[in-house]
Amino acid sequence: MPTAGTSGATRTTGTNGPAGTDAGAGAGAGAGAGASPLADAPRLTPKAIVRHLDLEVIGQDDAKKTLAVAIYSHQRKLEAARMRGVPLAKSNILLIGPSGTGKTLMCESLARFLGLPFVTADATALAQTRYVNDEIEAILQRLLDHADGDLAAAQRGIVFIDEIDKLKARDGQPAAVSGESVQHALLRVMEGSLVRLRGDDGQAPARYIDTSGILFICGGAFVGLDEIMARNQSYGFISTSGADDRTILDRLNARVKPTDLVLFGLIPEFTGRLPVIARLHDLDRAALVRIMTEPRNSLYRQCQAVFEAEGVKLVIEPRVFEEIADLALEYRTGARSLRGIFEELVTPILYVVPDQPEIRRVAITSLFAGPTVTR
Ligand SMILES: Nc1ncnc2c1ncn2[C@@H]1O[C@H](COP(=O)(O)OP(=O)(O)OP(=O)(O)O)[C@@H](O)[C@H]1O
Ligand SMILES: [Mg+2]
Repeated sequence: MPTAGTSGATRTTGTNGPAGTDAGAGAGAGAGAGASPLADAPRLTPKAIVRHLDLEVIGQDDAKKTLAVAIYSHQRKLEAARMRGVPLAKSNILLIGPSGTGKTLMCESLARFLGLPFVTADATALAQTRYVNDEIEAILQRLLDHADGDLAAAQRGIVFIDEIDKLKARDGQPAAVSGESVQHALLRVMEGSLVRLRGDDGQAPARYIDTSGILFICGGAFVGLDEIMARNQSYGFISTSGADDRTILDRLNARVKPTDLVLFGLIPEFTGRLPVIARLHDLDRAALVRIMTEPRNSLYRQCQAVFEAEGVKLVIEPRVFEEIADLALEYRTGARSLRGIFEELVTPILYVVPDQPEIRRVAITSLFAGPTVTR
């Protein structure tokens, strides 16, 4: 198992906390040892990866497991390729799930933890340019920048391409600008190819980046996929009796098949490059409440820290979180709307607190009532 944090100075696009923490795979290389909760774990197993994801991502257990195993086996394959020259058969990953359910968060959390160079890109932007290959080259250049120019580290990095479902083929679109042509361009790099990087000034000698060790994770909401799958269920007639059969059948039918994705509008060659598929689910009320309170950088904790800096203890009653969750459910953007509602809740209080140093404690008991202030 290679230590994932060998590049040490890796930066990620994450927003919270210092990035580039060492994955703690045991070799002690890389910066930030001790910053990771698993810094002295002997090996970066799928379970260890899931344990880390659990600290930041609520629920989505199946997707976490699938992702963790895929990452683990990818690292193993990289190692085998390096040590024994075994050709690398890469398993890129497709994350399917509604908006605001944790796709991007999961990838960012993962990259932070592994200490791998990580970049995100947007498939819609790729579909809007006439120069797809230049755009792909720019993404890989960013990956190299994130690895501080360390080519070997960049070649083990992760590229997350969001909104991949927007690349579906549509009738009447000219081939040159269609999502289909972007899929063609992407599948070459996803599989593994040498891509020429021009660098900034065009003066320096060209560098080539080999994408065969880079893991591509594609994400998208795939609205309408469930209907396609329901029409396309293939395992209806095996079962005769027994709850076990039913569970197995349900599991088989819940699987997204490449044919479903093709019916959705992806080209078969492209779906073929995404053998690992993980699904994220809609977040329910309880999950939304947990998201506000449980993660180590939860909205509640962030907010409490702001008040603490003013010398004020902020207490929000559990009922308030439930009220916020209900509102968020109505907005139908997953956990995305939570922050906005939260800000709205505390802004009027934060407006007055700094001018009144005698305030010691603020308690919020309902979204629809003023706060209780203790001086
Ligand atoms: N499962 C979750 N656990 C904790 N926080 C979450 C979860 N899902 C979403 N969030 C919160 O909501 C925000 C948006 O989530 P994220 O960016 O991961 O959504 P997404 O699935 O990528 O959606 P989109 O398809 O719109 O890009 C995150 O910054 C995070 O704070
Ligand atoms: Mg996203």
